[in-house]
Amino acid sequence: MEKIFENNKKWVADKLAEDRDYFTKLAMGQKPRYLYIGCSDSRVPVNEITGTGPGEIFVHRNIANMVVHTDMNLLSVLQYAVEVLKVKDIIICGHYGCGGVAAAASSNQFGLIDNWLRNIKDVIRLHDGELQQIEDEEQRLRRLVELNIIEQVINLSKTTIIQNAMASDNPPNLYGLVYDISEGLLRDLKVDVKTLSRYEHIYGMKTEETVA
Ligand code: CO
Repeated sequence: MEKIFENNKKWVADKLAEDRDYFTKLAMGQKPRYLYIGCSDSRVPVNEITGTGPGEIFVHRNIANMVVHTDMNLLSVLQYAVEVLKVKDIIICGHYGCGGVAAAASSNQFGLIDNWLRNIKDVIRLHDGELQQIEDEEQRLRRLVELNIIEQVINLSKTTIIQNAMASDNPPNLYGLVYDISEGLLRDLKVDVKTLSRYEHIYGMKTEETVA
């Protein structure tokens, strides 16, 4: 832990050397453009890979970058980011070599986390046909990582928070990105949530005012 405090003091000194009002300005408030929902994996440092600094990106991380509709933590972050901070771009970012995705693809028990990973098993079921055709296990897992990101963007778009935001004057953009740890690059999976309009009769939810 001593190392952490040492590093912190050095960082403060460096920042103040660049701009003596650096922290005073940050303390005045935040107006981030981005909401980032990513995996907790220690090899995916959000600010470093996106070249963003303090105040620029609102972050939520969990194992395997999941959007689970009963997750109060994620929903609270999402509502605050969308309705109060009014972020413009919402990014779901997964990564190849994700341990959570690999665990979900296996038949082993890992304890409590199995209940969380069950949501990824549902992604496997939805795309079983495509995944079964990929013989190479590593390639199959890479594709599953991508499919999981796409499904989480879809889950995101189904929340009433996003549905309401999409109907507002300032609809946010939704992105599904995959990060390659072995080369450091981010790639846009170009998830098009508009294709979901055919499921409007299932997932579309009118606002309370409209119902009344
Ligand atoms: Co991961």
